[in-house]
Amino acid sequence: MLADYQGWGRGRLGTSGPSGAANEQSITKTPRAGYLCKSKVRKKRAFGCYTDQMNCHAEYVEAFLPLRCYSKCFDTLSMTFFFSLPSPTLSMDTYHDLISQTFDFPTQDFTVADNELQFHGIDLMGLIEKHGTPLRLTYLPKISSQIQRAKQWFQAGIEKTGYKGRYTYCYCTKASHFSFVVEEALKNDVHIETSSWFDVSIIRAMYQKGRINKDTYIICNGFKREEYRRDITALINEGFVNCVPIIDHLGEIDYYHEHVREQCKLGIRVASDEEPRFQFYTSRLGVRYTDVVPLYEQRIKEDPRFELTMLHYFINTGIKDTSYYWSELSRFVHKYCELRKLCPTLTTIDIGGGLPIQTSIQPDYDYPYMIEEVLRTIQRICAEEGVPEPDIFTEFGIFTVGESGATLYSILDEKLQNDKELWYMIDGSFITNLPDTWALNQRFIMLAVNGWNKSYKKIQLGGLTCDSQDYYNAEKHIYQVFLPERKPVDKEPLYVGFFHIGAYQESLSGYGGIKHCLIPAPKMVILDRDADGNLTDRVFANEQKPETMMRILGYQE
Ligand SMILES: Cc1ncc(COP(=O)(O)O)c(C=O)c1O
Repeated sequence: MLADYQGWGRGRLGTSGPSGAANEQSITKTPRAGYLCKSKVRKKRAFGCYTDQMNCHAEYVEAFLPLRCYSKCFDTLSMTFFFSLPSPTLSMDTYHDLISQTFDFPTQDFTVADNELQFHGIDLMGLIEKHGTPLRLTYLPKISSQIQRAKQWFQAGIEKTGYKGRYTYCYCTKASHFSFVVEEALKNDVHIETSSWFDVSIIRAMYQKGRINKDTYIICNGFKREEYRRDITALINEGFVNCVPIIDHLGEIDYYHEHVREQCKLGIRVASDEEPRFQFYTSRLGVRYTDVVPLYEQRIKEDPRFELTMLHYFINTGIKDTSYYWSELSRFVHKYCELRKLCPTLTTIDIGGGLPIQTSIQPDYDYPYMIEEVLRTIQRICAEEGVPEPDIFTEFGIFTVGESGATLYSILDEKLQNDKELWYMIDGSFITNLPDTWALNQRFIMLAVNGWNKSYKKIQLGGLTCDSQDYYNAEKHIYQVFLPERKPVDKEPLYVGFFHIGAYQESLSGYGGIKHCLIPAPKMVILDRDADGNLTDRVFANEQKPETMMRILGYQE
């Protein structure tokens, strides 16, 4: 039995021969294992790509070590492996060949019919013909199915581990504030996490529409300016019994002392330590670990209006199988136990958001395993400390809405800027439409919408702003981007889609505001299924018009 390994692999399996110096031992041993790569190695005997930070199982290592493994380059975060596998009979001609030999393709969500891409069985070319590009799509059923998946994983984990607490799903509105997203989420018996003042207006709008009631949990996070504290207090005084202000700094409680008139549940956010490579040691968000007990003892315990029910933390890097994540979770659960021994009303922990989404076609995250491990960790520490297992809240944002979103672009034209660098110019912008690609080097699933029967080319994708940073030239698994070749004789333009972009992109880019180089926000279309499963589409907003920006800029009344 081999040990488990994790390889930080960005690379590919090549059909070509050796292309570098042998470096067979470039794999690092880690405590936990993934499961994907082995099948990749065994099934795909051709050009196959590995995901960033993939987890490689022992059998995978076993499978490839006898092969010739060539390390092309590595930096502190990633290594690029090139493998040589014998595959004399496979040739790779078309874009379709490239994708299906690189990944286990088609997948449940991505298929191809008549050389055109389908997303959840949706004819994307049909939508382009109807609505044009750039086109921002939201496929609502995906939001509900994500929520149901997470609930089932928690339920299964609770049953398997015998965990005694209950699980509650909150949607964190900051991932996407759009009404159609929040309403879809609320169809699934979820609760809400807010992060700023205007979120309270969303709560009120949802209450008016009957989408939530006064028992819905409203977990109020964030460093709160007075208006936010005021509006939270108003909800509490109006009888929203599960509106829970999460104390983010010590002074926040003063306002509630002065203004809250009803019984009020409270939470405290503890400030976690940041990931070791981060610029700061401790998060600026939340209350210091050492201040939690005095805050309870001095400002909450004796006041009959207040009941401390929840302890909260959030790990910025998400729920990941890293020693950093497990050690922060353990520290947090120990703090819960310490406080629970002093505070019998403390029944709940809120472990924040951070459940990741797929940013590559190849699944690389074992959700049930991670959730089970989270439950086991909490359970073990509570047993050691002799404290009841808490109810668990989560606030999943990106997981709820990320995979429901796509943006489709036309390739307007191409520019060959030297002998090698070919640019495909899109009719939108990465900086303004997909700001995470620019600010965080976030990768999404990028696929051609049409032309799957054409040969493919290595290209760079260029955005419309004048900023030299407005480009996309690497995928999660490889530092290159390939798309079908364009020919001057082509009657139909080439279209490209970015998928799983449903979270944070509009709130970061300021949807509907002014943008870099005044690039307009794309047309937004909502996709749904009717009772018979037929696809419906409705325009939420047309492409932004010049007048909206002229008004903001003071050129028009
Ligand atoms: C307190 C809190 N909860 C939840 C989330 C949502 O995180 P995610 O979208 O990764 O699930 C965030 C994101 O910043 C957060 O700060």
